[in-house]
Amino acid sequence: MAFFFRRLIRPVLFQLDPEWVHDSTIKISETIGKADWVIRLLSRYYRIHDERLRVELGDLCFHNPIGLAAGFDKNGRATSLLSALGFGHIEVGSVSINSSKGNPRPRLFRLPKDEAIIVNYGVPNQGAKVVGERLSHLCGQVPIGINIVETNTGLTSTSDQIIREYVEATRLLSANADYITLNLNCPNTSAGESIFDTASVLKSLIEECEKIRDLPPIFLKLTAHSDGQRMERTLLAIEKCKSIRGFIFNIPPGKNYITETQTSEVRSLPGTLCGPPTQSLMDAALAFWYKNVDRRRYVLIGSGGIRSSEDVYKKIRLGASVVQIYTTLVYRGPNVVRELNKGLLVLLERDGFTHVEQAVGVDNP
Ligand SMILES: Cc1cc2nc3c(=O)[nH]c(=O)nc-3n(C[C@H](O)[C@H](O)[C@H](O)COP(=O)(O)O)c2cc1C
Repeated sequence: MAFFFRRLIRPVLFQLDPEWVHDSTIKISETIGKADWVIRLLSRYYRIHDERLRVELGDLCFHNPIGLAAGFDKNGRATSLLSALGFGHIEVGSVSINSSKGNPRPRLFRLPKDEAIIVNYGVPNQGAKVVGERLSHLCGQVPIGINIVETNTGLTSTSDQIIREYVEATRLLSANADYITLNLNCPNTSAGESIFDTASVLKSLIEECEKIRDLPPIFLKLTAHSDGQRMERTLLAIEKCKSIRGFIFNIPPGKNYITETQTSEVRSLPGTLCGPPTQSLMDAALAFWYKNVDRRRYVLIGSGGIRSSEDVYKKIRLGASVVQIYTTLVYRGPNVVRELNKGLLVLLERDGFTHVEQAVGVDNP
């Protein structure tokens, strides 16, 4: 199946405009997702049922540690098919309170030699009301997270306005989410700068969110960094906030990585580079946070540059309880989750772990 995708399907898809391929994939996935019998058939092939892969984070129960990162299913249209492909969780979004068209096109670029993507979408989405309504009809097979962001208007807003947007979106979407991710440093809208780097602003945001009834667990998606003082400010701001379950890391803006693709070619494109070249930077931030956070209280979701089971395993050993992928799905196709999980089982067995949770952080005591 993997061979078939790489040798036959991918070469054809890569002749076409990346955004058109993405939109068409979502449309087709949505249609297939309505046929229960197809979903059952696909689930039977793609999903791996193995207790060793199960991860429990409080009330959240993941069948396996490999989740889909935000940005693929922006409006929650393809969750049925994506669950059938074997993901342990799916993060829908980013979703803002108001719909947005995002940045001007072209805004998605492939770097095939690096198996990477440059993205400058600027969070186009249909808005919290539409997405919330759509997700309310789901009877989910896997946990669904919803990633929330401020509306990309291209204009500057005050911190009060931005907080109000996040809180309103969270209120609308909470009932349909197993967890909420507050995307605080979206690189395509804010160049990685965030008003939430100011502790008092972050504190106000979380305090306002915590007034929402039946709020699900919250994850904060922050720019990956290994700056002790910046981390300390964040942790202090949320010290009294009981709803925060953990952290996910955004790839920092910029394209200053070692790439096979000519550097000048990469630098001339607008946006953020995602995929394998970012891996070491993302792993360093993960390791740094794992060393410094209170692990009884917070968990880390690792992402950035995964393309093999070894990459997944490395992040877990550095401290990730679960991981998320995106770019490798584009390059490896629908079989990738199954392949990653099968390989992970082999690695766990090789090292004598009887359960994936035993491997979390072993390289980062
Ligand atoms: C095309 C594309 C669109 C993305 N859109 C979003 C988004 O809307 N919100 C978000 O939080 N992250 C977004 N991301 C970042 C991913 O969620 C993920 O953090 C990142 O791609 C790292 O994983 P990867 O190296 O496996 O791609 C996007 C990534 C890509 C490649």
